[in-house]
Amino acid sequence: MASSLLIKHCRILDRGKLKESHIFIRQGKIKSIGKAERAQKTIEAEGNIVIPGLIDCHVHFRQPGGEQKEDFYSGSRAAAKGGITSIFDMPNTNPATTTLAALKQKRELAKRHCIVNYGLHFGATPDNADMVRKADTKSVKIYMGSSTGNLLVNTPEALARIFMAAKQSGKVCMVHAEDEECLRNLKEMYKEQTANHAEAELHTKIRDSSCAAKAIKDALRLQAKIGNKLYFCHTSTKEEMALLRKAKQRSTKVFCEVTPHHLFLDVRAYRKYGNFVKVNPPLRHAEDREALWKGIADGTVDTISTDHAPHLPEEKGQGYWDAPSGMPGVETMLPLLLDAVNKGKLSLTKVVELTAWNPAKIFGIVNKGYIKVGYDADLVLADMNLSTRLESIESKSKWSPFQDMILQGWPVVTIINGDIAYYRGALYNTRGKPVAFA
Ligand code: NCD
Ligand code: ZN
Repeated sequence: MASSLLIKHCRILDRGKLKESHIFIRQGKIKSIGKAERAQKTIEAEGNIVIPGLIDCHVHFRQPGGEQKEDFYSGSRAAAKGGITSIFDMPNTNPATTTLAALKQKRELAKRHCIVNYGLHFGATPDNADMVRKADTKSVKIYMGSSTGNLLVNTPEALARIFMAAKQSGKVCMVHAEDEECLRNLKEMYKEQTANHAEAELHTKIRDSSCAAKAIKDALRLQAKIGNKLYFCHTSTKEEMALLRKAKQRSTKVFCEVTPHHLFLDVRAYRKYGNFVKVNPPLRHAEDREALWKGIADGTVDTISTDHAPHLPEEKGQGYWDAPSGMPGVETMLPLLLDAVNKGKLSLTKVVELTAWNPAKIFGIVNKGYIKVGYDADLVLADMNLSTRLESIESKSKWSPFQDMILQGWPVVTIINGDIAYYRGALYNTRGKPVAFA
């Protein structure tokens, strides 16, 4: 790998405006901006834009235990192709990342196989508050309602223990906020009614927006007492947006994530894709999508992350009760967002804020998220004029709900720690490093 690299004639954001520039990289770091210094390797950007590599706060790369669905190698190659240069992996693996030994094991696997930079979320159980305190991570994932895997913290006492442990050890609580009892009651009710002819649409009814609202309220009430950092994963409804807008006026420690599938799909997608778009929380209605876009515009939403949750086509092709929940996302998040920029739905600065600046800020990531001298050279070169569809899929899920869409605006080169990971259709085996924290 070249130890110096020049990106020539690119355009970078400078206070909201694109300015022509050059970026000179040496030994994995941005060394200068604006000067076309002599380098071992040069990329002619021809006026394409360069933005900070995306930091995806929420992926399921399935290793260990679910390698048939994805692993650090396949998942990170898909990420690099999608302009994502750092990922945070979720703990619902097998074994689950709920012990220090499992955390160590996963860290070794990521170190060996992940071609993008990585961080890990520790997993909470009703009894592992002590371990949460000791775990060498910046975050802990809490499932208030069941999803894929068997992680669950569904009593107020257990939730309080985890919030407290997270606060004491400076961790962000990443919450999957759907109320377990609410989900169970609705499931029982609909199971009796629909017996064997359940369709994918049922998912939105069983995992009703009231279950999400209930969990968010409970978590916020507790957070107001304890004062921990609280990050709501994949918020998807208008009720959640309203609750969070209010909560964020009282606390600067409350954060909110949305996913591309909740922004770009709604219940109408069931007709076309059936259980392939079965996901937790479920797809919602048009007015919920509108509310999420409004939340982006007014600053209620802090991050857009993928919740990349791959399953195999044969698993997703089963009937409603057997098909697992989750869909892939790392290859399509940036193209969807750049296409939305081209359509005037949000600004390029907003995309960078929600996918790079804010993730770096929330977790206290060192030297990432910005194009600045001295920062890690995690960069994406994007062609805002390229209009095409996803031609091939790196993820083992081998499917995407967005694969038929023609989108305008694509990542064409991805650079990780100064090395080229993706270059106009070809992937290279870069070495991901653990993300460092302040
Ligand atoms: C996730 C998975 O498959 O791991 N599924 C999903 O529908 N989002 C689990 C999760 O994060 O809920
Ligand atoms: Zn998830």
